[in-house]
Amino acid sequence: MSTIHNLQAIEILDSRGRPTLEVTCELAGGARASAQVPSGASTGQAEAMELRDGDPGRHSGMGCRKAVLSVSVPIANALRGQTAKQSDVDNTLIALDGTANKARLGANAILGVSIAVARASALQRGVPFYRYLAEMIGHSPKSLPRMTINLFSGGKHAGGQVPVQDVLLVPASATTIDQGLTMVCAVYKAAAAAMMDNHSARLLTADEGGLAPPFADVEAMLDDTVAAIAAAGLRPGDDMSIAMDIAASHFYDDGRYLIGTEKCTAPEMIERIERWVRDYPIVSVEDPLAENDWKHWPAMRAALGDLAITVGDDLLCTNPARIQRAIDTNSCNALLLKVNQIGTLTEAAESLRLARTAQWSVTISARSGETEDNWLADLAVGWGADQIKVGSVTQSERLAKYNRLMTIEEESRLPVVNWPQSR
Ligand code: PGA
Ligand code: ZN
Repeated sequence: MSTIHNLQAIEILDSRGRPTLEVTCELAGGARASAQVPSGASTGQAEAMELRDGDPGRHSGMGCRKAVLSVSVPIANALRGQTAKQSDVDNTLIALDGTANKARLGANAILGVSIAVARASALQRGVPFYRYLAEMIGHSPKSLPRMTINLFSGGKHAGGQVPVQDVLLVPASATTIDQGLTMVCAVYKAAAAAMMDNHSARLLTADEGGLAPPFADVEAMLDDTVAAIAAAGLRPGDDMSIAMDIAASHFYDDGRYLIGTEKCTAPEMIERIERWVRDYPIVSVEDPLAENDWKHWPAMRAALGDLAITVGDDLLCTNPARIQRAIDTNSCNALLLKVNQIGTLTEAAESLRLARTAQWSVTISARSGETEDNWLADLAVGWGADQIKVGSVTQSERLAKYNRLMTIEEESRLPVVNWPQSR
């Protein structure tokens, strides 16, 4: 195994025009690879901390020059000459940082290094990145993930027109990535045309490319989703199912969920979501309750039963301790995995292992602030994710991942995972 020769970083811009990092790793064996770092907006409280400059005169304090320095000075000094074994590299990063939430060196700096080292090692070995990532966890890729793709957005990724963050399309009957994308593009176009008719204006899109019209309520958002599926000549529930990211932490206040003008209790919220799942072909519900409302999650999970998977994003923050708590309390049965919520590939792999031990479903997810880098597609295939969640089909920072999936599909001939059963 090669040793690390050098690590460098530069500040670049993400899809929201905010600074982020690109980290480059050079191995003594000659391989050189870079990785770009994504960033969330609807973040969980338990997430690892990005290091931002805090200088109000530059990018409103969001600059990443301090994180760049973290890479080029303390991290490069600590790792230079070390073998590129992923767990050793990541453990060095964790020890060097020394905080519980990566606040000293920055989770953004740490993630960039973790991925860049892995990518350079794959290059050095001459294996596709997804195969290298699979080997890292002792897995051999057997399938491609089912895509869940944003159609409509609200909440923190749009203007807050509806509290629910995302309604996503799940191309359930597609047997290939290519076919799934073709189906989703048809529904997206049908929805955009209908929005033009209904709201007589070209609609603005949200951070992840979802359409964001001023829906009267969540039911209208779901009705229009089903209508767009049908307008594209597809059968709702058979060809195209629905996933939701409720992101409920972001409209929860003092024990109440604020839906429109209503202030719902947790039991009322559970009843409402159960009704949505019964009335519409919904197969996946993410963050139906707030991240600290642990008390009510088990009832939510029980209410959804086998109708839809109960996915924890803000609840879990890809954090092994929180995942263990959710397993012990039967709070959900699916993990949304975002590597930068925890910081390194090694820690994220432990989160994946825990979820799989509990026989949970796993979605590997991008962030609302993304880059043109495509490593997420390799990660989702390499780690055998059941779903991949990247955003919509109209922006290149999202398409970079879908296009990479198509390349992997062409070269690997792997089938798309058999989920969901049609509803
Ligand atoms: P974020 O949103 O990247 O803004 O956190 C994505 C999600 O909530 O799933
Ligand atoms: Zn989410």
